[in-house]
Amino acid sequence: LITPSCAAAALDWYDRHRRALPWRSEPHEKADPYVVWLSEIMLQQTTVAAVKPYFAAFLARWPNVSLLAQAPIDEVMRQWAGLGYYSRARNLHACAKRVAGEFDGRFPDTEAALRKLPGLGPYTAAAIAAIAFGRRAAVVDGNVERVVARLFAIAAPLPAARALIREKVEALTPSARPGDFAQAMMDLGATICTPKQPACAICPLLDHCAGRASGEPRRFPVKAPK
Ligand code: ADE
Repeated sequence: LITPSCAAAALDWYDRHRRALPWRSEPHEKADPYVVWLSEIMLQQTTVAAVKPYFAAFLARWPNVSLLAQAPIDEVMRQWAGLGYYSRARNLHACAKRVAGEFDGRFPDTEAALRKLPGLGPYTAAAIAAIAFGRRAAVVDGNVERVVARLFAIAAPLPAARALIREKVEALTPSARPGDFAQAMMDLGATICTPKQPACAICPLLDHCAGRASGEPRRFPVKAPK
């Protein structure tokens, strides 16, 4: 299968500029689904900088999902204290128990099966399927939404534009290296295609970008008037 040139450009950029983050495996190293799951749950509503020490502490204390499943819930809550959105910690523990009990400590490896686990919504299930298992899944978070809204100069306002943005991500996602592609789009949104000052001059998708061609990339994503 041919990787669309836009996805190829994103992957090539990722190979040269990927952020080294503690939960990312090295290229050609196998991803640990537990590590991917733990980090994605923590990162969903929390910044990379805030997550780092919590991620390290959890992994040191509970190196795999079965050990986390055996921990008393109040110790998990105590270890989570300060990260916020505490339903995430309760779901984390419930999910660990399900994976340990029903799946023998191995995470299911499809987006659909992951979706059924506690705390796993569309974003996290797709992210784990792509990053941990190499599944072609459309991974859409706020950063990816902005990158894609600009790339295609999507005129419809949020939240109505979300369906179209999802279709675009589905079409763009390559079957080779879908996890790297997802993380390339996240990194682009976090470091280059930023909300207020997009650095179009150094963007690997510049030649593909309709938002840039319009002269007003910051117009996208369009927000519905209040
Ligand atoms: N935010 C959430 N998941 C992420 C990931 N895998 N890489 C970078 N930023 C993220």
